[in-house]
Amino acid sequence: MAQRESWATRTGFILAAVGSAVGLGNIWRFPYQVGEYGGAAFLVVYLLLIAFVGFPVMLVEFSIGRYTERNPVGALKQIGKGISSKIGWVFVVAGFVILSYYSVVAGWILQYIVIGLQGNYAASGAATQFGATTGGLPSVLTHAIFMAAVIGIVALGIQDGIELSVKLMVPAIIALLVGLAVYAGTLSGAGDAYAYYLSPDLGAIASNWTEILPAAAAQAFFTLSLGMGVMITYASYLGEDRNLAKDGAIIVGLDTLIAFIAGLVAFPVLFTANLTETTDGPGFIFVSLSEAFSSIPFGGILGAVFFATVAIAALSSAISIMEVVVSYLIDEHGIARVPAVTALGIAIFLVGVPVAYDQSGSLVWLTVYDGLANQILLILGGLLLAIFVGWVQTDLGLEELSKGFRNLGSWGMVWIWTLRIPVIVLLLVVLWYNASNVYESLVGIFG
Ligand code: PFF
Repeated sequence: MAQRESWATRTGFILAAVGSAVGLGNIWRFPYQVGEYGGAAFLVVYLLLIAFVGFPVMLVEFSIGRYTERNPVGALKQIGKGISSKIGWVFVVAGFVILSYYSVVAGWILQYIVIGLQGNYAASGAATQFGATTGGLPSVLTHAIFMAAVIGIVALGIQDGIELSVKLMVPAIIALLVGLAVYAGTLSGAGDAYAYYLSPDLGAIASNWTEILPAAAAQAFFTLSLGMGVMITYASYLGEDRNLAKDGAIIVGLDTLIAFIAGLVAFPVLFTANLTETTDGPGFIFVSLSEAFSSIPFGGILGAVFFATVAIAALSSAISIMEVVVSYLIDEHGIARVPAVTALGIAIFLVGVPVAYDQSGSLVWLTVYDGLANQILLILGGLLLAIFVGWVQTDLGLEELSKGFRNLGSWGMVWIWTLRIPVIVLLLVVLWYNASNVYESLVGIFG
């Protein structure tokens, strides 16, 4: 059998993981969630969850990936027994579904780059403009273009495809966002926007925690690319000597910083356009933000740069999801990379067509795909892994974590006990709330 691929450098691995983490989640989902759940109050809960739930679960994925040097299905088959050996399937199914609609949304972003370059963001009727973008053949076409880019990069392999492309994409995302944030800081609404974004109302957290907590936890998982086997897969291409906790801390830190900077772009733009009552959900950047761009100085070009940044970020995330399913076909079925990527790419494209073509006007298919995969499968995947390493394969986890440390000391047990009770209880609560939300929205659509 051909030798398994690996990263050329430590930076390559870190950038690939950051590229996966930074995506639509940071630039589209994060600011809208902050807006929806009370500004800085949400930010505080989210930061706590990133540190005490997201980071420990990321280390679980890293240790399983590096120990087994396998794709998620193969990894769990190797170290799990009975039912636990089947956990990896959750990831492959989730990857398939998530990428199919992630690519559709990314395709809309491509359309919004063009609209911006033409100086055509709608000053009124932004919702109608968004409605014309989604659905029908143009949306299927841009979905196809985005999937073709994903296939092209992943077909080139770990070092020549993923590693090389993230070395260009991640610095570009950071530079563009920082530039946009600096410009946004000069806008007239910046002061009010910062006040809203940065001063937490602790009373709001206490009175509203049953909404804030599940939303912040789902956001933490989504943004860190957890519960989907991406970090298992990426760590499976990693050497023995790396300190997983240190790499994880860098990845979590950069992802959080970039989400924070995205807020420093979005809120001043919105406040300057007096659009504090924003459209939530998929419409946030497409409706509220594009409408805001239409009324600020240099809005068209600025919007095009903004959407281009989002497109790059979406691409560096999409390739990571693709790699999860591709590594499964390569490892478990011995299929060569290029045919594996091509076949999967076409299949995922087809699965996404209902979302892309959807002319219901209310994004019904997007809601269904997102609800099932994102709010349920991701959290379920993370929960199962936390139980597995917290209670079953504790020694394996501790052994992997201690590599690259001179002396891990009692930190290993702090990690295990964090997984054992707080992380598991919290994820169960979140899964409960999300499942009932998804159920209600499905009944609303089909019932
Ligand atoms: N972390 C990505 C984002 O914030 O957009 C989305 C994502 C990528 C989620 C990979 C899950 C995943 F496995």
